[in-house]
Amino acid sequence: MTNRPQVLRTVAALRRAMAPYRKADIALVPTMGALHAGHLKLVTEAKKRARRVVVSIFVNPTQFAPTEDFGSYPRTLEADMKALTALKVDAVWAPTAAAMYPEGFATRVAPEGAALAGLEDKFRPHFFGGVATVVTKLFTQVQPDFALFGQKDYQQLCVVTQMASDLDLGVKVVGIPTVREKDGLAMSSRNVYLSEAERAVAPTLYRVLKASAQRIKRGEPIEMVMEEGAGEIRHAGFALDYLEARHALSLKPIASVKDGPIRLLVAAKIGKTRLIDNLGV
Ligand code: PAF
Repeated sequence: MTNRPQVLRTVAALRRAMAPYRKADIALVPTMGALHAGHLKLVTEAKKRARRVVVSIFVNPTQFAPTEDFGSYPRTLEADMKALTALKVDAVWAPTAAAMYPEGFATRVAPEGAALAGLEDKFRPHFFGGVATVVTKLFTQVQPDFALFGQKDYQQLCVVTQMASDLDLGVKVVGIPTVREKDGLAMSSRNVYLSEAERAVAPTLYRVLKASAQRIKRGEPIEMVMEEGAGEIRHAGFALDYLEARHALSLKPIASVKDGPIRLLVAAKIGKTRLIDNLGV
Protein backbone atom coordinates (compact mmCIF):
# COMPACT_ATOMS: atom_id res chain seq x y z
CA MET A 1 0.00 0.00 0.00
CA THR A 2 1.28 3.44 -0.86
CA ASN A 3 0.83 6.55 1.24
CA ARG A 4 1.69 8.85 -1.67
CA PRO A 5 -0.12 12.15 -1.09
CA GLN A 6 -2.94 12.91 -3.47
CA VAL A 7 -1.93 15.35 -6.21
CA LEU A 8 -4.60 17.92 -6.99
CA ARG A 9 -4.53 19.85 -10.24
CA THR A 10 -7.76 21.85 -10.37
CA VAL A 11 -9.52 24.12 -7.90
CA ALA A 12 -12.60 21.84 -7.97
CA ALA A 13 -10.49 18.76 -7.11
CA LEU A 14 -8.74 20.70 -4.34
CA ARG A 15 -12.09 21.79 -2.82
CA ARG A 16 -13.38 18.23 -2.82
CA ALA A 17 -10.19 16.88 -1.24
CA MET A 18 -10.01 19.61 1.40
CA ALA A 19 -13.60 19.28 2.63
CA PRO A 20 -12.96 16.36 5.04
CA TYR A 21 -9.69 17.95 6.27
CA ARG A 22 -11.51 20.99 7.62
CA LYS A 23 -12.46 19.18 10.83
CA ALA A 24 -8.82 19.56 11.92
CA ASP A 25 -6.11 22.24 11.72
CA ILE A 26 -4.59 22.59 8.27
CA ALA A 27 -1.08 23.85 7.49
CA LEU A 28 0.05 24.95 4.05
CA VAL A 29 3.66 24.96 2.85
CA PRO A 30 3.76 27.05 -0.35
CA THR A 31 6.66 26.10 -2.67
CA MET A 32 7.74 26.22 -6.27
CA GLY A 33 8.99 22.63 -6.02
CA ALA A 34 12.63 21.55 -6.52
CA LEU A 35 12.40 20.71 -2.85
CA HIS A 36 15.51 20.73 -0.67
CA ALA A 37 16.15 20.27 3.04
CA GLY A 38 14.90 23.81 3.74
CA HIS A 39 11.46 22.98 2.30
CA LEU A 40 11.39 19.65 4.12
CA LYS A 41 12.06 21.47 7.38
CA LEU A 42 8.99 23.63 6.65
CA VAL A 43 6.97 20.44 6.23
CA THR A 44 8.21 18.89 9.50
CA GLU A 45 7.44 22.17 11.30
CA ALA A 46 4.00 22.22 9.66
CA LYS A 47 3.31 18.73 10.97
CA LYS A 48 4.03 19.93 14.53
CA ARG A 49 1.38 22.64 14.17
CA ALA A 50 -1.47 20.96 12.29
CA ARG A 51 -3.07 17.54 11.78
CA ARG A 52 -3.30 18.05 8.01
CA VAL A 53 -0.44 19.31 5.85
CA VAL A 54 -0.81 20.49 2.27
CA VAL A 55 2.22 21.40 0.15
CA SER A 56 1.67 23.54 -2.91
CA ILE A 57 4.00 23.21 -5.87
CA PHE A 58 3.57 25.90 -8.49
CA VAL A 59 6.28 27.72 -10.41
CA ASN A 60 4.48 31.04 -10.48
CA PRO A 61 5.06 32.84 -13.77
CA THR A 62 3.90 36.24 -12.47
CA GLN A 63 6.82 36.60 -10.06
CA PHE A 64 9.44 36.19 -12.79
CA ALA A 65 10.48 39.01 -15.15
CA PRO A 66 10.81 38.00 -18.82
CA THR A 67 14.62 38.17 -18.40
CA GLU A 68 14.58 35.78 -15.42
CA ASP A 69 14.77 32.00 -15.07
CA PHE A 70 11.10 30.93 -15.25
CA GLY A 71 11.83 28.60 -18.20
CA SER A 72 14.89 26.98 -16.64
CA TYR A 73 13.70 26.95 -13.01
CA PRO A 74 14.28 23.36 -11.77
CA ARG A 75 11.17 21.18 -11.96
CA THR A 76 11.60 17.87 -10.12
CA LEU A 77 8.06 16.66 -9.39
CA GLU A 78 8.89 12.95 -9.08
CA ALA A 79 11.71 13.54 -6.57
CA ASP A 80 9.52 16.07 -4.73
CA MET A 81 6.70 13.52 -4.48
CA LYS A 82 9.09 10.90 -3.09
CA ALA A 83 10.26 13.28 -0.35
CA LEU A 84 6.69 14.36 0.49
CA THR A 85 5.52 10.74 0.59
CA ALA A 86 8.27 9.94 3.09
CA LEU A 87 7.08 12.86 5.24
CA LYS A 88 3.45 11.65 5.03
CA VAL A 89 2.07 14.89 3.64
CA ASP A 90 -1.70 14.70 3.07
CA ALA A 91 -2.02 16.46 -0.26
CA VAL A 92 -0.01 18.25 -2.92
CA TRP A 93 -1.69 21.19 -4.58
CA ALA A 94 0.02 21.39 -7.97
CA PRO A 95 -2.31 23.48 -10.12
CA THR A 96 -1.81 23.85 -13.82
CA ALA A 97 -1.04 27.40 -15.00
CA ALA A 98 -4.57 27.48 -16.50
CA ALA A 99 -6.12 26.51 -13.15
CA MET A 100 -4.22 29.29 -11.39
CA TYR A 101 -4.49 31.97 -14.07
CA PRO A 102 -7.44 31.11 -16.30
CA GLU A 103 -7.98 32.94 -19.59
CA GLY A 104 -9.08 36.50 -18.82
CA PHE A 105 -7.48 36.64 -15.35
CA ALA A 106 -7.39 40.36 -14.48
CA THR A 107 -6.85 40.87 -10.74
CA ARG A 108 -3.62 41.51 -8.88
CA VAL A 109 -2.67 42.18 -5.27
CA ALA A 110 -0.32 45.18 -4.94
CA PRO A 111 1.53 45.06 -1.59
CA GLU A 112 3.10 48.20 -0.12
CA GLY A 113 5.05 48.71 3.13
CA ALA A 114 7.85 46.14 3.32
CA ALA A 115 7.25 45.31 -0.36
CA LEU A 116 8.60 48.79 -1.24
CA ALA A 117 11.60 48.71 1.12
CA GLY A 118 14.12 49.20 -1.69
CA LEU A 119 15.66 45.73 -1.35
CA GLU A 120 14.42 42.88 -3.61
CA ASP A 121 11.75 45.20 -5.02
CA LYS A 122 14.45 47.54 -6.36
CA PHE A 123 16.05 44.76 -8.42
CA ARG A 124 12.92 42.66 -9.12
CA PRO A 125 10.08 45.22 -9.34
CA HIS A 126 7.57 42.62 -10.59
CA PHE A 127 8.34 40.14 -7.79
CA PHE A 128 6.17 41.03 -4.79
CA GLY A 129 3.06 41.75 -6.87
CA GLY A 130 3.39 38.25 -8.32
CA VAL A 131 4.07 36.66 -4.93
CA ALA A 132 1.26 38.53 -3.17
CA THR A 133 -1.24 37.59 -5.88
CA VAL A 134 -0.36 33.91 -5.95
CA VAL A 135 -0.10 33.58 -2.15
CA THR A 136 -3.50 35.25 -1.73
CA LYS A 137 -4.90 32.71 -4.17
CA LEU A 138 -3.16 29.81 -2.40
CA PHE A 139 -4.54 30.99 0.95
CA THR A 140 -8.10 31.36 -0.35
CA GLN A 141 -7.94 28.05 -2.23
CA VAL A 142 -6.54 25.94 0.62
CA GLN A 143 -7.86 28.04 3.55
CA PRO A 144 -5.15 26.84 5.92
CA ASP A 145 -4.90 27.77 9.59
CA PHE A 146 -1.11 28.12 9.28
CA ALA A 147 1.26 28.80 6.40
CA LEU A 148 4.97 28.22 6.76
CA PHE A 149 7.61 30.24 4.91
CA GLY A 150 11.40 30.16 5.12
CA GLN A 151 13.20 33.14 6.66
CA LYS A 152 15.66 32.90 3.80
CA ASP A 153 13.26 35.00 1.70
CA TYR A 154 13.03 37.47 4.55
CA GLN A 155 11.40 40.38 2.72
CA GLN A 156 8.86 37.96 1.23
CA LEU A 157 8.07 36.70 4.74
CA CYS A 158 7.50 40.30 5.94
CA VAL A 159 5.28 41.08 2.94
CA VAL A 160 3.17 37.92 3.27
CA THR A 161 2.77 38.35 7.04
CA GLN A 162 1.51 41.92 6.56
CA MET A 163 -0.74 40.91 3.68
CA ALA A 164 -2.40 38.06 5.61
CA SER A 165 -3.16 40.50 8.40
CA ASP A 166 -4.24 43.44 6.20
CA LEU A 167 -6.59 41.30 4.09
CA ASP A 168 -7.99 39.31 7.07
CA LEU A 169 -7.06 36.08 5.34
CA GLY A 170 -7.38 34.14 8.60
CA VAL A 171 -3.99 32.46 8.16
CA LYS A 172 -1.21 32.58 10.74
CA VAL A 173 2.04 33.05 8.84
CA VAL A 174 4.98 31.29 10.49
CA GLY A 175 8.61 32.04 9.56
CA ILE A 176 11.08 29.17 9.91
CA PRO A 177 14.87 29.71 10.25
CA THR A 178 17.01 29.19 7.17
CA VAL A 179 18.49 25.73 6.66
CA ARG A 180 22.16 25.92 5.63
CA GLU A 181 24.75 23.69 4.03
CA LYS A 182 27.66 22.72 6.31
CA ASP A 183 29.71 25.68 5.04
CA GLY A 184 26.88 28.14 5.76
CA LEU A 185 25.41 28.59 2.28
CA ALA A 186 21.64 29.05 2.59
CA MET A 187 19.76 26.20 0.90
CA SER A 188 18.02 27.33 -2.28
CA SER A 189 16.57 25.62 -5.33
CA ARG A 190 18.79 27.94 -7.40
CA ASN A 191 22.03 26.59 -5.86
CA VAL A 192 22.00 23.89 -8.58
CA TYR A 193 22.92 26.64 -11.07
CA LEU A 194 26.30 27.22 -9.37
CA SER A 195 29.48 25.94 -11.05
CA GLU A 196 32.03 24.24 -8.81
CA ALA A 197 34.09 27.45 -8.57
CA GLU A 198 31.01 29.58 -7.82
CA ARG A 199 29.80 27.08 -5.22
CA ALA A 200 33.18 27.40 -3.47
CA VAL A 201 32.84 31.18 -3.00
CA ALA A 202 29.05 31.23 -2.41
CA PRO A 203 29.36 30.86 1.43
CA THR A 204 31.10 34.29 1.49
CA LEU A 205 27.65 35.87 1.83
CA TYR A 206 26.86 34.10 5.09
CA ARG A 207 30.41 34.59 6.38
CA VAL A 208 30.12 38.36 5.82
CA LEU A 209 26.64 38.47 7.40
CA LYS A 210 27.89 36.64 10.49
CA ALA A 211 31.04 38.74 10.89
CA SER A 212 29.06 41.97 10.29
CA ALA A 213 26.42 41.01 12.89
CA GLN A 214 29.16 40.37 15.46
CA ARG A 215 30.88 43.69 14.72
CA ILE A 216 27.60 45.63 15.00
CA LYS A 217 26.84 43.88 18.28
CA ARG A 218 30.28 44.94 19.55
CA GLY A 219 29.31 48.55 18.80
CA GLU A 220 31.15 49.26 15.54
CA PRO A 221 29.40 51.85 13.31
CA ILE A 222 26.82 50.16 11.05
CA GLU A 223 27.71 52.19 7.96
CA MET A 224 31.39 51.27 8.16
CA VAL A 225 30.63 47.59 8.80
CA MET A 226 28.28 47.47 5.79
CA GLU A 227 30.83 49.21 3.52
CA GLU A 228 33.60 46.81 4.50
CA GLY A 229 31.29 43.79 4.14
CA ALA A 230 30.27 44.99 0.66
CA GLY A 231 33.96 45.28 -0.27
CA GLU A 232 34.62 41.72 0.87
CA ILE A 233 31.68 40.37 -1.15
CA ARG A 234 32.80 42.19 -4.30
CA HIS A 235 36.40 41.07 -3.77
CA ALA A 236 35.20 37.43 -3.72
CA GLY A 237 33.84 37.92 -7.26
CA PHE A 238 30.19 38.80 -6.68
CA ALA A 239 28.24 41.61 -8.36
CA LEU A 240 26.57 43.02 -5.25
CA ASP A 241 22.98 44.28 -5.42
CA TYR A 242 22.79 45.26 -1.74
CA LEU A 243 24.12 44.59 1.73
CA GLU A 244 21.97 46.50 4.19
CA ALA A 245 21.06 46.79 7.85
CA ARG A 246 17.29 47.24 8.22
CA HIS A 247 14.69 47.21 10.96
CA ALA A 248 13.74 43.55 11.34
CA LEU A 249 9.97 44.18 11.14
CA SER A 250 9.41 47.30 9.01
CA LEU A 251 12.57 46.79 6.87
CA LYS A 252 13.14 50.56 7.15
CA PRO A 253 16.80 51.74 7.03
CA ILE A 254 18.47 51.85 10.41
CA ALA A 255 21.43 53.93 11.58
CA SER A 256 22.11 52.64 15.07
CA VAL A 257 21.63 49.52 17.22
CA LYS A 258 19.20 51.36 19.49
CA ASP A 259 16.74 51.65 16.56
CA GLY A 260 16.68 47.83 16.24
CA PRO A 261 15.96 44.90 16.17
CA ILE A 262 18.25 44.76 13.15
CA ARG A 263 18.23 42.36 10.23
CA LEU A 264 21.12 42.29 7.78
CA LEU A 265 20.08 41.47 4.21
CA VAL A 266 22.22 40.72 1.19
CA ALA A 267 21.67 39.94 -2.51
CA ALA A 268 24.48 39.35 -4.99
CA LYS A 269 25.15 37.64 -8.28
CA ILE A 270 27.93 35.14 -8.79
CA GLY A 271 28.22 34.35 -12.49
CA LYS A 272 24.61 34.12 -13.67
CA THR A 273 23.17 33.05 -10.32
CA ARG A 274 21.59 35.54 -7.95
CA LEU A 275 21.76 34.57 -4.26
CA ILE A 276 20.04 36.18 -1.28
CA ASP A 277 20.56 35.71 2.44
CA ASN A 278 19.92 37.48 5.75
CA LEU A 279 20.70 37.32 9.45
CA GLY A 280 19.42 38.88 12.64
CA VAL A 281 21.85 40.99 14.73
O1 PAF B 1 9.17 31.28 -1.89
C1 PAF B 1 8.64 30.71 -2.85
O2 PAF B 1 8.95 29.56 -3.18
C2 PAF B 1 7.59 31.45 -3.68
O3 PAF B 1 7.87 32.80 -3.76
C3 PAF B 1 6.16 31.22 -3.18
C4 PAF B 1 5.96 31.75 -1.78
C5 PAF B 1 5.83 29.72 -3.21
C6 PAF B 1 5.16 31.93 -4.10
O4 PAF B 1 5.25 31.48 -5.40
